[in-house]
Amino acid sequence: MVATSSPAAHPGPVGSTEAIRLQLRSWPEVDAYLQRCKGVIVPLGSTEQHGPTGAIGTDALTAEAVALEVGRRTGVLVTPAQAFGMAEHHLGFAGTMSLQPATLLAVMHDLVMSLARHGFERVYVINGHGGNIATTRAAFAQAYGTAAARGLPNATDLRCKLANWFMAPEAIGLARELYGDREGHHATPSEIAITLQLEPSLEAKQRPLPEPAPAGPIHGPEDFRRRHPDGRMGSDPSLATAEHGARFLEVAATALAADLERFLAEPAG
Ligand code: NI
Repeated sequence: MVATSSPAAHPGPVGSTEAIRLQLRSWPEVDAYLQRCKGVIVPLGSTEQHGPTGAIGTDALTAEAVALEVGRRTGVLVTPAQAFGMAEHHLGFAGTMSLQPATLLAVMHDLVMSLARHGFERVYVINGHGGNIATTRAAFAQAYGTAAARGLPNATDLRCKLANWFMAPEAIGLARELYGDREGHHATPSEIAITLQLEPSLEAKQRPLPEPAPAGPIHGPEDFRRRHPDGRMGSDPSLATAEHGARFLEVAATALAADLERFLAEPAG
């Protein structure tokens, strides 16, 4: 197979997600993939409370599901999910497991550098948690510096992009249509809907909930719990259904697959 000069070349849609899961590939298969595509998708989530009825793994489950569907549609490899994120403000609730910002920065930097070393030049992070955004951007900035300092042959071609599925205009529009201002800002019905679609056992937790505490500034874990006693920020996750979840997956995957295609087509440095 002849190497292409542009990272735009990619394998195209595949029938199942099995074909694009890095976990299930051998190293010779990854080598062969790199001869035709320099793109890779990294799902990034969080393991944190999602209100009294939402799963602790919501952000990791949703990010991975969107990533696998984007991978299936584009043929771009998907790495295992980074299931732990920056969730310091959720530590007042049982089950939350958080990385400090400096730790997450180091983790994302090291993952990008591992991929860049093998020749990946387009690292597309599909994120499910707002608290990861600032730190992940900082990790990208640090990785560019490291790639240059280490003299990687592809240092000037390395590009990283953060894609927050819940901030895609199409996903925001669907949430507004279905839930209005009951979407809220944390433990939202849109993200809970996707988890219901993925994991039917979560339906058993769904029940009507009292009026949520409104969204407000975010400080430390004790302050968060005082302001948001049941963990929700202005949201009504009881409105979520599995059928809605299928629609959110569809619109998010469509928007991000198109965004990924544009990212892959950006000319190399
Ligand atoms: Ni979430």
